[in-house]
Amino acid sequence: MAGLVVAMDGPSGSGKSSASRGVARALRLRYLDTGAMYRAMTWWMLEQGVDVADPAAVAARCGEPEIISGTDPDGPTIRVGSTDVAGPIRTSEVTGSVSAVAAVPEVRTRLVALQREIIGTGGIVVEGRDIGTVVWPEAAVKIYLTASAEARALRRTAELSGTTVEAQQAAMARRDTLDSTRKADPLSMADGAIELDTTPLTLQEVIDAVLSVVARQGGPGG
Ligand code: DC
Repeated sequence: MAGLVVAMDGPSGSGKSSASRGVARALRLRYLDTGAMYRAMTWWMLEQGVDVADPAAVAARCGEPEIISGTDPDGPTIRVGSTDVAGPIRTSEVTGSVSAVAAVPEVRTRLVALQREIIGTGGIVVEGRDIGTVVWPEAAVKIYLTASAEARALRRTAELSGTTVEAQQAAMARRDTLDSTRKADPLSMADGAIELDTTPLTLQEVIDAVLSVVARQGGPGG
């Protein structure tokens, strides 16, 4: 499994994070949450007072922050320089701004390069929106997770405090539209990806379904 790369793409609330971590644990692989890197970049822009609605301003500064991702599925970490931002990147302020930042091509170029460096020689489960299409199209296993809008909003509401299912569903619909209609690397299903609708499945069932795809097609070197 040393060289294996498992690409896990899909919209928010599709169950990517829990499933990706579970698959990495089961196969003793590393784990990378690329969404956390876009969130860390967004957190830093907001801290610096950069106008995130201005793509030129974001592009001009996106080379500055040092973004450091851990790859342990049992304890994923994310830092900007020496600051642990695991908590701050989940605030509604960051969540509300991350699509705009992630749409800036210069941001994507920088973070995709960092992601490729971390993937290195493989042995990793990578979750995001463009892993199978852009970051690592040669991944031996590409999974595209989906779920109904209701199921996704319910999951996100359970993770967050102070929100309602309706508010979440509306916010997620907005973010999905931005993420899948942007010009730079929009969310889309990769060639050769296996689509998995997680709506009726438990987390363990999703993990098992991915593991069986890996057993079928996850030869080393991918
Ligand atoms: O998975 P998430 O909700 O933490 O992702 C945060 C945002 O980052 C999401 O709005 C889309 C963007 N993103 C992206 O554009 N490309 C990725 N590979 C991962 C996330």
